[in-house]
Amino acid sequence: MNKTLSVSAIHNGTVIDHINAGQALRIVHMLGLAEKKYKVTVGLNLPSKRMKLKDIIKIENHVLAKEDANDITIFAPEATINIIRNFEVMNKIITTLPETISNVFVCPNQVCITHTEPVETFFYIKEHSKQVNLICKYCEREFDRNQVKVNI
Ligand code: CTP
Ligand code: ZN
Repeated sequence: MNKTLSVSAIHNGTVIDHINAGQALRIVHMLGLAEKKYKVTVGLNLPSKRMKLKDIIKIENHVLAKEDANDITIFAPEATINIIRNFEVMNKIITTLPETISNVFVCPNQVCITHTEPVETFFYIKEHSKQVNLICKYCEREFDRNQVKVNI
């Protein structure tokens, strides 16, 4: 059978596959992919054998750093991160959930000091069963990963 890809194959770069549907844009913002001027294609709500629906991000001519790959697992624990070299999958990055994340997210607590003081935000990552929460270092409140917004 002649299968066609919804998003074209890339020559060199990184493919972040099996992203939980709905999380790709948050990941694009988190990694600052638009600002860095990478050539990026994003597929949303694509059919997948493994998941009901998935998102996918393809970044051309850039190999994702291990730290960035780890940050992705906060929002997309099942993501597979493939390094492409000359149209072939050269390797898949093994990820681990990071313990903390700083800078990129805004604390959802409106009266948190991070909104009035010139400090970088800082969250501890807490995982219990399949739930991943972020705890603000400053106000100590705990938030579901879908509550935090990227500072753009
Ligand atoms: N891919 C791509 N460009 C290439 C090669 C692969 O965009 N030149 C993409 C594929 O479309 C797929 C991902 O990279 O989304 C991983 O490729 P591959 O390992 O061949 O696919 P699967 O076997 O489906 O991977 P998995 O083991 O993650 O299910
Ligand atoms: Zn806070």
